[in-house]
Amino acid sequence: MKIAIIGHGNVGGALARRWARAGYLCIIGARDPKSDKVINLIQGINGVSATTVKECVRGAGAILIATPPDAIPGIAEQIGDVSHSVIIDASNSVSKKPEGFENGYEALKALTNAKSVVKCFNTTGFENMKNPDFDGVKADMFLAGGNKEAKALAEQLAKDAGFGEVYDFGGDDKVPLIESFALAWINLAIMQKYGRDIAFKVLRR
Ligand SMILES: NC(=O)c1ccc[n+]([C@@H]2O[C@H](COP(=O)([O-])OP(=O)(O)OC[C@H]3O[C@@H](n4cnc5c(N)ncnc54)[C@H](OP(=O)(O)O)[C@@H]3O)[C@@H](O)[C@H]2O)c1
Repeated sequence: MKIAIIGHGNVGGALARRWARAGYLCIIGARDPKSDKVINLIQGINGVSATTVKECVRGAGAILIATPPDAIPGIAEQIGDVSHSVIIDASNSVSKKPEGFENGYEALKALTNAKSVVKCFNTTGFENMKNPDFDGVKADMFLAGGNKEAKALAEQLAKDAGFGEVYDFGGDDKVPLIESFALAWINLAIMQKYGRDIAFKVLRR
């Protein structure tokens, strides 16, 4: 499957590497696909290439949004018809929001014709996306959204990126909760100074 990755920074870069290693064809969609930052990322990774934001979504089964949330309305306008794709929104509206919306998920649902939208990969630091393994224990991943197929695809992609269990927070109404959960990680890691090498794991009895 082809995965379009819009946003090639910390999050997009980490997941591009993981998914390419798992055998997916990853196409970075960048404002400047010839920039040093893009070239440095794609060099040496088999299965990752780059093009424009508009072009990257062609034939993509999944589109990862890994940009600041306020970029989303402009991206939605550029990508056009994405009715064949599931959009995975990794953005967090912690300090910025897409204009007119509470979060990226709502904006993507309203402004694109994507087959479906799912929120995933927003609840942990990018370092844990580069490496979700903690001495043999895999960090868990969490998702939310209103579409079962989209959630199944995001779950598969989380497992293929190396995460352990994937927990479903629920439907559209739980998207604000999963953004608050991301804030809980940010609070512990940064404000309370536990460091970014922490991740959530659900225990069961
Ligand atoms: N950092 C984390 O640990 C983490 C964890 C979970 C979720 N998140 C969320 O993930 C998102 C990305 O975070 P990040 O840390 O990866 O940010 P980052 O390293 O600053 O990367 C942001 C990327 O977005 C691109 N971008 C910005 N505006 C754009 C536009 N209008 N059109 C296309 N591309 C655009 C940038 O490309 P240019 O080179 O063109 O500027 C850059 O590649 C944020 O919403 C953040 O809240 C971050």
